[in-house]
Amino acid sequence: MQDGRRKIVVLGGSSGMGLATVRLLAEAGHALVATGRDPARLAAALQPLPGDLRGEAFDATDRAQLDAFFGRLGVFDDLVVALSGGEGGGPFRGLDLAALERGFAAKFWPHVQAAQAALPALRAGGSITFLTSVSARMANPGTAGLAAINGAIEAMVPVLARELAPLRVNAVAPGVVDTPWWDARGAEAKDAVFRQQAQALPVGRVGRPEEVAQAVAFLVGNGFTTGTVIACDGGLHLL
Ligand SMILES: NC(=O)c1ccc[n+]([C@@H]2O[C@H](COP(=O)([O-])OP(=O)(O)OC[C@H]3O[C@@H](n4cnc5c(N)ncnc54)[C@H](OP(=O)(O)O)[C@@H]3O)[C@@H](O)[C@H]2O)c1
Repeated sequence: MQDGRRKIVVLGGSSGMGLATVRLLAEAGHALVATGRDPARLAAALQPLPGDLRGEAFDATDRAQLDAFFGRLGVFDDLVVALSGGEGGGPFRGLDLAALERGFAAKFWPHVQAAQAALPALRAGGSITFLTSVSARMANPGTAGLAAINGAIEAMVPVLARELAPLRVNAVAPGVVDTPWWDARGAEAKDAVFRQQAQALPVGRVGRPEEVAQAVAFLVGNGFTTGTVIACDGGLHLL
């Protein structure tokens, strides 16, 4: 687009860090297309936001729907993949491997197939930014499955940054961030994790979606950064 305005797609843009990214980039004057599965949730999330933005509801685990979406979209500049999974955590000895497979199906495969499906429509000088997780690079007992899902995405980042150049490919690895993802785990579990994190983290609190959105916006906008994973985690990776 002209005048530094970019056309940016945020997959998983109806909640949490994806929605915060949509808000931040729309406020910066870019044209945004946000997606999610639930059309009512998507419409309610976007309705109060000012700027040039629209939503499309579809399931990113479905390759045909991804191909149709990018086919309709026309050329665009930047892809942000903020789709969440959820399953695959827990101590390894008793880890439910079927749940781990579902975790890969909900996060790893949609991230990878979204990036591949987007390529025909992505401008060569644009970018892809994945939302992974700091669990990929921690040695935190009970997170081997989550480390594998997110580590598999992160392992592709530097390879794709070279293979797909001049397209830039990066990721942001969040720590614990207060998003609706946690609400689904129940108030008690959420409070326990947030309290424990506040005690343990160098910054003394969990993250806000807006803070991760700032890291994503940096990677989208900075033309000299590629093949990089930024930890935005309050220092969790140091523990
Ligand atoms: N929150 C944390 O503490 C945390 C920590 C580390 C890493 N992360 C990672 O950061 C990313 C964002 O997390 P979040 O907490 O912001 O998540 P969230 O609040 O649960 O939002 C996830 C978004 O993805 C959409 N989505 C999920 N599956 C989809 C699918 N198959 N097709 C289309 N849209 C789909 C959701 O909308 P619908 O439900 O309507 O589809 C929603 O817009 C995720 O990859 C997550 O794994 C989160």
